[in-house]
Amino acid sequence: MKTRELVEIDERRLLRRLDELAQRGAMPGGGIYRALYTPAWTSATELVQGWMKDAGLLARRDAVGNVWGRMEASRGGRVIATGSHIDTVRGGGALDGALGVVAGVEAVASLVQNYGRPTRILECVAICEEEGSRFDTNFWGARGIADRIEPNEATRSRDADGVTLADAMRGVGLDPEKVSQAARRDIDIFVELHIEQGPILDEAEERLGIVKVIAGTAHLEVVVRGEADHAGATAMDRRRDALLGASEMTLAIAKAATDMGAPAVATVGTISVEPAQVNVVPGLARFTVDVRHSDDRLRRELVAEIERACKVIALERELRLSVHTLRDRPPVALNERVSDVLRRAARCFGAEPRDMTSGAGHDSQILATAASVGMLFVPSIGGRSHRGDEATAAEDVVLGTRVLATALHELAYGT
Ligand code: GLV
Ligand code: MN
Ligand code: MN
Repeated sequence: MKTRELVEIDERRLLRRLDELAQRGAMPGGGIYRALYTPAWTSATELVQGWMKDAGLLARRDAVGNVWGRMEASRGGRVIATGSHIDTVRGGGALDGALGVVAGVEAVASLVQNYGRPTRILECVAICEEEGSRFDTNFWGARGIADRIEPNEATRSRDADGVTLADAMRGVGLDPEKVSQAARRDIDIFVELHIEQGPILDEAEERLGIVKVIAGTAHLEVVVRGEADHAGATAMDRRRDALLGASEMTLAIAKAATDMGAPAVATVGTISVEPAQVNVVPGLARFTVDVRHSDDRLRRELVAEIERACKVIALERELRLSVHTLRDRPPVALNERVSDVLRRAARCFGAEPRDMTSGAGHDSQILATAASVGMLFVPSIGGRSHRGDEATAAEDVVLGTRVLATALHELAYGT
């Protein structure tokens, strides 16, 4: 077996840049909100593009706003790429997505600095959007790369203020007519470093994980219709309160996932009522459900059970119910050959990575339709994520980045 390089990185630069990126979109009360095509997002993408240029990479923004840094190769051929998303949830932390972006730039920069031109083309990328936190769509960046954006999606999707994705694109100098130009058919391998976002590695005191499967997701929108009435003059036994129905449904949804057992999860993450007045019985309640399982049959069973439970409650309370599937993404298995490269790289540092299932969604699950994809996890302290205090020990951030760089070395500097 050939000797593997334990690739060095600039640890201080890596940690400093994570802090710098965390300033972009920092919220006054704590947490970060870097939503697609907002000023915070623009500032973050410009920062990353500057780092790519500093590393001597050819830096460019593609048709949806993904920022790529590229190092040409002595041999050419299809590309080895790494990266993650630069957007965050509202009140998110400094590492979800950001780690893979900053570590990707650091790994490629260090490789080029230490070993010069690779034999295979190397690229790092800050993917413009993954979270679905601004528009009623998600994985916008990775779907751009994988050519999975639907026709007219940019004109159909809106944010909470009614701004279309297309208008927001124009606002940052992108042309919504050209989204298809973001598609890449020349990526051979994509590797993503990410925080685990759950407690498994932290509790087991293990430092690295390799993702075998990313759980599938279904997003549902449920609308419950009852009757708006006077809050003072309508007796309790005469009401058809949509919110009470939705509340009972929310509990039934959690119970359905709990009864199925881990890794089944179901979350009601948004709810609104109409007419939303202090002295009116809610006539309408609208909520979303996020359902996940790594086994596709069980995921679909859980969705069916949730729909059945909601119907029963609606019937009992004389409410009308409609359930609409917003998106449906089956589980995705990642590439074993790329996972083996990551495993070998981890072993170079004396770590035996754990095989894992990701409950969280990742750009990798979309890019797996266009390339061979592998994912490396580092621990999340206390399993915390999608919140301002998400954290990973600095030595684990460094280890993950070194393993990433070592894996990229094997992939891009071989003969
Ligand atoms: C993104 O983080 C998701 O899992 O929804
Ligand atoms: Mn996230
Ligand atoms: Mn993420």
